[in-house]
Amino acid sequence: MTAKAVTSMTGKNVLITGGTGGIGRAAAIGLASLGARVGITGRDRVRAERAAVQIARESGNPAVDVFVADMSSQAEVRSLADEVLAAYPRLDVLLNNVGGFWAHRHVTADGLEHTFALNHLAPFLLTSLLLERLKASAPARIVTVSSGAQSMGRIDFEDLMGEGKYSGQRAYNQSKLANVMFTYELARRLEGTGVTATVLHPGMTSTGFGAEDTARGWGPIIAVMRLFMKKPEQGAETSVYLASSPEAKAFTGQYFANSTPKVSHKASYDRATTARLWQVSADLVGLAVVAPSVRQA
Ligand SMILES: NC(=O)c1ccc[n+]([C@@H]2O[C@H](COP(=O)([O-])OP(=O)(O)OC[C@H]3O[C@@H](n4cnc5c(N)ncnc54)[C@H](OP(=O)(O)O)[C@@H]3O)[C@@H](O)[C@H]2O)c1
Repeated sequence: MTAKAVTSMTGKNVLITGGTGGIGRAAAIGLASLGARVGITGRDRVRAERAAVQIARESGNPAVDVFVADMSSQAEVRSLADEVLAAYPRLDVLLNNVGGFWAHRHVTADGLEHTFALNHLAPFLLTSLLLERLKASAPARIVTVSSGAQSMGRIDFEDLMGEGKYSGQRAYNQSKLANVMFTYELARRLEGTGVTATVLHPGMTSTGFGAEDTARGWGPIIAVMRLFMKKPEQGAETSVYLASSPEAKAFTGQYFANSTPKVSHKASYDRATTARLWQVSADLVGLAVVAPSVRQA
């Protein structure tokens, strides 16, 4: 747990995507330990319910709910949002944690490249669908887990789906830069609503990250690297800090690592690019949204 001040989360509802393992489960334990009612998501009900039991046991808080969705599918993100809206009359924190790395190119049920769809479009769509509930619950927080890889990212508007030439690292870097740009644009859109939007790098953490499709030859190297990585509860510290700490309450439109504000990729501060990404993302998930900066142009 971070040394910085934390507060009681009693009475608060928190949704954590990808809460069945890794950093998300550790964040769920951290936030449930502070008294929050925590909803976790995962693709498999049995695995998710097992995780919920573990989170409840380790936090001493039985208020853990399970939501099942494959978030690479937009239809499942929409059903998930409906279920969350039905279950939580108020939503105080949305922690967009789900994400991953795939060495080879995969295509989702919607015909989109998997990394971009899951790491960026899923949180974009879920946040959009839950936004009115978050606003009605203000003060509320939206926290999105990016990566230090954002600093190497480039949004390739000509080939967002990596159809021309796919590289797992390039797709990951792009999706994580998209997380940062999404957050900055979101924060601007939320000005005056009492809902904040922050984004973070958790640090290299020993989890199941990348295990679904590891590049050939990397398995043994990663196994050794794991020895030097953060443990999941350490990787979750910045998420828990931004989701719960009193001093983080007013932070918005900022990128963090080790619970400290950091400078993100130069391109993330380019308002025309963030507005363009927002519009393209809205089109890809079928939301009729026009970015304010585009409207004014
Ligand atoms: N680990 C690191 O070193 C590191 C570094 C920088 C950034 N990050 C970021 O931290 C976040 C969490 O990563 P992690 O390391 O904790 O990964 P992880 O151990 O692989 O956990 C991923 C979580 O996402 C869920 N998930 C995966 N695919 C899904 C899908 N299609 N639909 C719904 N849920 C899905 C998994 O649940 P089920 O398998 O139960 O469905 C699991 O709960 C990611 O955004 C990642 O990019 C990690």
